[in-house]
Amino acid sequence: MADSTKSATLSIDGQTYDLPMFSPTAGPDVIDIRKLYAEAGVFTYDPGFTSTASCDSTITFIDGGKGELLHRGYPIDQLAGKSHYLEVCYLLLYGALPTAAELEEFESTITRHTMIHEQMHNFFRGFRRDAHPMAIMVGAVGAMAAFYHDSTDISDPRQREIASHRLIAKVPTIAAMAYKYSIGQPFVYPRNDLDYAANFLHMCFAVPAEEYVVDPIIARAMDRILTLHADHEQNASTSTVRLASSSGANPFACIAAGIACLWGPAHGGANQACLEMLKEIGSPDRIPEYIARAKDKDDPFRLMGFGHRVYKNFDPRATVMKQSADEVLDLLGVENNPILATAKELEQAALADPYFAEKKLFPNVDFYSGIILEAMGFPTSMFTPIFALSRTVGWVSQWKEMIADPQNKIGRPRQLYLGDTARDYVDIENR
Ligand code: ACO
Repeated sequence: MADSTKSATLSIDGQTYDLPMFSPTAGPDVIDIRKLYAEAGVFTYDPGFTSTASCDSTITFIDGGKGELLHRGYPIDQLAGKSHYLEVCYLLLYGALPTAAELEEFESTITRHTMIHEQMHNFFRGFRRDAHPMAIMVGAVGAMAAFYHDSTDISDPRQREIASHRLIAKVPTIAAMAYKYSIGQPFVYPRNDLDYAANFLHMCFAVPAEEYVVDPIIARAMDRILTLHADHEQNASTSTVRLASSSGANPFACIAAGIACLWGPAHGGANQACLEMLKEIGSPDRIPEYIARAKDKDDPFRLMGFGHRVYKNFDPRATVMKQSADEVLDLLGVENNPILATAKELEQAALADPYFAEKKLFPNVDFYSGIILEAMGFPTSMFTPIFALSRTVGWVSQWKEMIADPQNKIGRPRQLYLGDTARDYVDIENR
């Protein structure tokens, strides 16, 4: 961490405390409160961590006001336009764009680790047929801890690297198997001659009865979806991975914890919730009704795919995603798609409404991704698993960074206790 350049002064009951401050390479300064409790005997209170930096990191930077997202300094629109998912994985994991030789080796390593241990197939068969693929993923990724013992010594950098490669390589296989299981089709083994996105599509859509040819444009769109979701600094699931691993837990268990967190509708589950909402709206003439509901404080309904904790301007990923939605539907010959039409009108109506403007609520990455995934043939239940497989690289990159950080210590937030103070136990007959 850089040296402290300035300080903030806190005054409590006439006593002042100087708190060191750090300046990042980009973004707001931070006040270092690590010694606050020891020196002043007080905690800070920040539910939802809206003003708290939990770590220092060199991986991803977001300027929510400008609508900017950088991975290792490279803007997401450039990466989505010029790079591809595995190159972005390398960038996130190792900190620099690879040379041609480094990329070739990395792609070969990932490709050669896509199969999962054959005994893991038994885990899938233990789930109910109608299990949500995210439920299966939480279980199956956690179960990897029981199969890959030779990459669980987190004090060994090489084992950490192997665990990272295994996760990036095998999570798509697990996601595809969860899907195949849920529709009663046989599992499809990965193919080493296909690239990452095409291989995933193949594992999801191929059947033994006939040849399945992956359309390169669909594979490119899939790759772009993966690229756009690869990392997003200290979001809820990434922070969950960091918190779980702060105890020294097994890497596969930590990523399973991240998947569990991602599942929620306020986070990764929003893409499924958004498409379901667009279908419920059904046609553009019902948009005013739903906008009114989203604004009504007595109605819990929110516009799914709108709003973001950090972006208070356009989510740059949403812009690329909207473009992809048009391209994919065009390619698939889907004309006048009513859901896309509803989405576009809903976006316009919300952006023109003062409620959304004042609260700085813009479409986020999930607003258009579901439309593309559905056009590709995925059911809504697969949207969040696809998010999970693309975010796996972000989780492992942040996990690796954290384990290597000498400042890493177990995460242990404090609380503002508002419960009863000490009182004597009352025997049951006297209550
Ligand atoms: N529709 C209507 N009103 C909204 C929405 C929305 N989608 N999002 C926020 N608001 C309102 C809130 O009611 C609140 O109003 P108030 O100030 O009058 O009480 C205000 O905007 C601020 O909202 P918060 O919930 O405090 O903002 P927070 O940063 O905690 O939440 C979140 C961000 C969870 C993403 C929220 O905008 C939301 O629920 N969006 C819908 C779900 C969604 O799309 N999630 C995906 C996020 S992106 C991702 O995970 C990849």
